[in-house]
Amino acid sequence: MPEVRNDQFDADYKENGIRIGHDLFVPYITEEKIMMRVKEIGKQISEDYKEKSPVFIGVLNGAFIFLSDLIKNVDIDCEIDFFKLSSYGDEKISSGKVKLIKELNCDVNGRHLIIVEDIVDSGLSIKFIEELIANFTPASMKVVSLLVKPNSLRYNVKIDYIGFEIPSKFVIGYGLDYAQKFRNLSSIYVLSEDGEQIKK
Ligand code: IMP
Ligand code: MG
Repeated sequence: MPEVRNDQFDADYKENGIRIGHDLFVPYITEEKIMMRVKEIGKQISEDYKEKSPVFIGVLNGAFIFLSDLIKNVDIDCEIDFFKLSSYGDEKISSGKVKLIKELNCDVNGRHLIIVEDIVDSGLSIKFIEELIANFTPASMKVVSLLVKPNSLRYNVKIDYIGFEIPSKFVIGYGLDYAQKFRNLSSIYVLSEDGEQIKK
């Protein structure tokens, strides 16, 4: 993977990709494909949590777009809250450390919790959240992640609802960042050296 330099972030938006310095990110998962999958997961969660009132807990920053689309596609009583964890920094490779930056506001005791992630890579963030939650007594806890990189998993974590399993490749858009940028893209892009189209 190329190194990240601050002068590389002048993005050039082309029809077939986004050039960021020397890196070319190409279309990977379309907005339509994401929305179809989000609807399916929303329906599944609505069935699984019928008669329950779960708390969706988004992991900031990355999960904010997925969470907002997901909850629009569930038709059950629910609440939302957020954790904020320290991010990768400005790199494409994890620092291997996670820090809690914002705690939950709600009382999770006795509640059904659904942790919402944008992407699970090594699984460290989810493991960290599981350990935080273990200090409380929720009625249940499940994890939903739009993307999972199964070949990158280093921790034994269970992801209950998965949008797409993807190879261990760096992706941006739909909440996912590269040095805090490009979260606003409505579809997902991958570094072009890795750039074949995803198959569902
Ligand atoms: P984990 O703790 O190693 O599972 O990493 C999870 C977090 O790393 C995600 O919530 C993202 O913020 C970030 N991350 C992992 N892979 C990518 C990627 O391909 N693009 C952007 N962010 C990523
Ligand atoms: Mg994240």
